[in-house]
Amino acid sequence: MPTDTIPVLTIDGPSGSGKGTISRLVAERLGWHLLDSGALYRAVGYAAGEAGLDLSDADAMTRCAETTKIRFRDPKDGGETRVIVNSHDATDELRTETAGAAASAIAVFPGVRTALFDKQRGFRRAPGLVADGRDMGTVIFPDARFKVFLTASAEERAKRRYKQLKDKGLNVTLAALLREIQARDERDAARTVAPLRPAEDALTIDTTGIAVAGVVDAVLLVVRPS
Ligand code: C5P
Repeated sequence: MPTDTIPVLTIDGPSGSGKGTISRLVAERLGWHLLDSGALYRAVGYAAGEAGLDLSDADAMTRCAETTKIRFRDPKDGGETRVIVNSHDATDELRTETAGAAASAIAVFPGVRTALFDKQRGFRRAPGLVADGRDMGTVIFPDARFKVFLTASAEERAKRRYKQLKDKGLNVTLAALLREIQARDERDAARTVAPLRPAEDALTIDTTGIAVAGVVDAVLLVVRPS
């Protein structure tokens, strides 16, 4: 199958909108591949931090994005996908708020985004791809057949994130998470390259107060209208 005929479903939205969970479940239901593009930005931010680099240095961050080796390894036992950064399994480190903030800081540099462009496009493989991110429908796969933009109120997103992190045993406060989410939203929406916004042809779904299963069904309807 020529690559550009392979179906792509893009799922964009702000942090905590449920994109990660919804994308994984929808990909499983469709039997399609999954691209967690946020993990790539987190991996570069993490590698830069480990190397003691200055996260505000655009050239250094671009070089870091060009040279960091990122691999996704599917677990044999059905557990979660592992992310290997320069031969180190960094899955746990990448989940932290620190990694999220580092990702958001380095994601503003055009050189970093260009370095990750081809890597992301390479995930388009038969029978299909669910692409989770901020600019999947606008920049990386503008020709995607199916596009969704998930939103939820900042308060609801902070609550979801709080629960997720608490379940993982991390020590966080709801107020701090809300502040971080609002700051990250602002930075992601205000940057000049690939700002966070729905593609013109995306269906926006507000997930505030809707359970995961309901959102999954709504997204699946976009791909397979009944
Ligand atoms: O989705 P996740 O929370 O893992 O993304 C972390 C950060 O990476 C985002 O806040 C955003 O700044 C950046 N990102 C991006 N473009 C993407 C995915 C993530 O700029 N496609």
